[in-house]
Amino acid sequence: MGNPLSSDLNALRQAMERLATPGHYAQSFHLVPPVGWLNDPNGLCQMGDTYHAYFQYSPFNPEGGVKMWGHSTSKDLVRWSYEGTAIYPDQPFDVSGVYSGCAYVENDLMHIFYTGNVKREDEDHYDYVTSGREANTIYVTSRDGRTFGPKRLIMTNADYPADDTEHVRDPKVWRQDGTYLMVQGARRTDDKGEVLVFRSDDLRHWSLANRVSTEYPFGYMWECPDYFELADDGDLTASEHVKVLSISPQGLRGSDWEHRNVYQSGYFVMRGDLLGENYLSPFALWDAGFDFYAPQTFQASDGRRILIGWMGMPDTKEYTNLTLRDGWQHCFTIAREVTAFDGRVLQRPVSELDALRTNERSAKEELDVDGCKEFDLTVEGLTGRIDVMRAHVGRELMLSWGSGIFEMRFLDESMESVGAGRKVRFERLDELRNVRIVGDVSSVEVFVNDGELTFSTRYYPTAYGVDVEAPGTRITLWDLLA
Ligand code: FRU
Repeated sequence: MGNPLSSDLNALRQAMERLATPGHYAQSFHLVPPVGWLNDPNGLCQMGDTYHAYFQYSPFNPEGGVKMWGHSTSKDLVRWSYEGTAIYPDQPFDVSGVYSGCAYVENDLMHIFYTGNVKREDEDHYDYVTSGREANTIYVTSRDGRTFGPKRLIMTNADYPADDTEHVRDPKVWRQDGTYLMVQGARRTDDKGEVLVFRSDDLRHWSLANRVSTEYPFGYMWECPDYFELADDGDLTASEHVKVLSISPQGLRGSDWEHRNVYQSGYFVMRGDLLGENYLSPFALWDAGFDFYAPQTFQASDGRRILIGWMGMPDTKEYTNLTLRDGWQHCFTIAREVTAFDGRVLQRPVSELDALRTNERSAKEELDVDGCKEFDLTVEGLTGRIDVMRAHVGRELMLSWGSGIFEMRFLDESMESVGAGRKVRFERLDELRNVRIVGDVSSVEVFVNDGELTFSTRYYPTAYGVDVEAPGTRITLWDLLA
């Protein structure tokens, strides 16, 4: 396969995978790397009856190293099978990493776009912001998602605006109104993040069509942009489309950002036109937990908009992952369906997850069950609103709502504890109507008010178990059997 570099990387990658021992925090139904490090979801798409998910993969180093695209497939968006590694950094234009990108499918052909990262050696001369880097846009096609045509270099830094730094990356492509559109994330020389919008008629030749940013300072770099439109299922705004511009901004400072993660992922609802004048709503977080970054969406052939995030966080010293002992780190979130209702953007686990439910237990107001590692739990307000709620997952992770705050808190804050250094995350929430908690062996995802607010975290329990107290509610718990 490929040139000598990619064939050796392939052999070494397989040798590492043969040595892998995922350990007792191995996940049951979350997409994980076979060994080493995983970050962003890439190339999410459906071809025929198969879903494809690629991932930023460093098999040689669980703390991150040279990036390639790992590949997994699924028939139901819930159970994933690892397929091997798809794209290696084996060319001068992607030698420092096959960075993030997308797959756009048309007529059973996968059109893949990614960033070829090049970082030149000479730390004395380069600042790696305005010098020392290349961010190349690479285009590859595939009929089966496993074998690929030649890599074509279609854009270099010379094709991006002159007042952008060398940080431009993460192409996402789709077709709209008879043309192809691409968004890329960028850092301007004045340290403002922005989204570049490109247009093409043939997927090979692209020209800059717009630049989108906030009027006010909002971070220095916007990574992993995505854009999509949702039909609004509510009554208030019926027939209007909600235009969603998703970004992962870096460098947010001050006020509320001080108690949140080092980097964020969220979206603006856009009024106006992506290709013309537009106005961006206040930014809303996709997820307010400890571990969520760089999500990507795709449209399934049944029309659903599916979002998958990286359940991890770059550049944080605050907390760690105990799976490092077993030579691997990070996973994806479960696939979430994104919908709009009366102008609100909601996320819920894809309905395919329901097929894993078994052993239903239901109680009013209080439930306490030992030993659940993989579970799905719902708390529904019998009369609508819930006045107060407190739950513990893995005995040490407390979820609570009261006095207008929804909180996720680890009771022990030390690095060796269940939270491995994670402490507390919270968001203002005036009214609580329902909560859904999906647990896997070492992760918890919480969906509040039909997914208006979500919190995702990794955790490392020594004793599994869930207890919930919420007066006036019906609590239901299922085991999930993957
Ligand atoms: C986001 C990111 C992307 C980049 C990739 C490299 O986590 O920094 O911008 O393409 O990761 O792994």
